[in-house]
Amino acid sequence: MPARLGILISGRGSNMAALIRAAQAPDYPAEIACVVSNVASAAGVAIAREAGIATAVIPHKDFADRESFDRAVSTELDRQGVELVVLAGFLRIFSPWFPGRWRDRLINIHPSLLPAFKGLHVQQQALDAGVRLSGCTVHLVTPDLDAGPIIAQAAVPVLAGDTADTLAARILRQEHRLYPLVVRWFAEGRIRIEGGTVEVAGVAPGATLLFSTEP
Ligand code: GRF
Repeated sequence: MPARLGILISGRGSNMAALIRAAQAPDYPAEIACVVSNVASAAGVAIAREAGIATAVIPHKDFADRESFDRAVSTELDRQGVELVVLAGFLRIFSPWFPGRWRDRLINIHPSLLPAFKGLHVQQQALDAGVRLSGCTVHLVTPDLDAGPIIAQAAVPVLAGDTADTLAARILRQEHRLYPLVVRWFAEGRIRIEGGTVEVAGVAPGATLLFSTEP
């Protein structure tokens, strides 16, 4: 049985779309059980609906506090039989309750090589720091923002003349490769979490780092 994913979004949904595409391959070990958005007008909601995926809009503004919102999202995920929760541009900070409830079954993609450049405007942070290499990170989500155990990363060069937008676009192309790969590993039961680090069983050494030299 394919693993059932719940994808949480707030916007464009291009990582969600990459996962939908990946899950269309007959041998992909995961299926999208539902997409939940806290924003009704998110472009990703329309993409998911068109793909025939169950969607739910749960506006955070309808809830008195973070935890009540988190519990409503979690109830929806349970209703859909979700086994792995995938954050894909979900722009809400959780109460500590949610990562506790989905411990070791909650992942995020972040557009920097963590632990460098947490939070927002991370491509600008990378440019301001003058790094020559940036990329994206898929990590487990813990109550500390952008600080959970790292599962895999993809690295790209930072080129002379880059703006935050050109760097973001280069990183995003790698996000669309990396996220479906990590979800596959999860669904295949390869992810071993030991303390603060992750081992991916049975993949080639170095497979958890993608490197792209595309401009
Ligand atoms: C991506 O850059 C992702 O790394 C970050 O939010 C952005 C979401 O983009 N967490 P999209 O909605 O998947 O297109």
